Amino acid sequence: MDKKIIVGPSLLAADFSILKEEIGRAEEAGADFLHCDIMDGHFVPNISFGPSIVKDIRKTTELILDVHLMIEEPQKYLNKFIDAGSDIITVHIETLKEPRKILEDIKSAGLKAGISLNPETPAESLKEVLDIADMILVMTVHPGFGGQGFIEECLPKIEKIKAMFDGDLEVDGGINYKTAQMAVKAGINMIVAGTHLFNSKNMSEDIRKIQCLKK
Ligand code: DX5
Ligand code: ZN
Repeated sequence: MDKKIIVGPSLLAADFSILKEEIGRAEEAGADFLHCDIMDGHFVPNISFGPSIVKDIRKTTELILDVHLMIEEPQKYLNKFIDAGSDIITVHIETLKEPRKILEDIKSAGLKAGISLNPETPAESLKEVLDIADMILVMTVHPGFGGQGFIEECLPKIEKIKAMFDGDLEVDGGINYKTAQMAVKAGINMIVAGTHLFNSKNMSEDIRKIQCLKK
């Protein structure tokens, strides 16, 4: 059975000077979840925000908070992001010595555990966590910045992962209506979009169009 397509605006593309209004705008537009990008200036060449901002975001919304950790040593900061009120925490396979351990820690805190992989990282790298991850996040840009172009070469990898994994499959990077359509065809059911949605003239229409995509 194909899962319903759900859509999460990436707050990285929001105007942080009016963050509460931006979150309200996404909520009213029908977002299914909110994607929070955490960048440390080491794993990726950019710095975004940390757990205290996630905690503030939590105060303003009941939407699912999908927290994408693009940081070295995620284990070190895990409890802070759990305490901040995250619902899903996703860590990068490239940063982990003991991937099963951190996914277990996330799950035993009652959260959903996601594992992500960069465009150049092969699907096989996830083999040891396929039975434990709730979600796999396939990056379709090199992580670090919003507004980049979708790397179409990642599509066969999505198909490959879909064939071996039963949980949620999320895509992140360079998503617009056209690339969302390609991702859904390849097996994705969770769509993250930053620039496309926050720059949209009609966010609710653009969210709805993606939610209605059929495989
Ligand atoms: C990139 C981030 C993405 C980013 C997506 O490193 O992980 O979540 O916000 O932005 P767009 O949708 O603009 O590519
Ligand atoms: Zn992200």
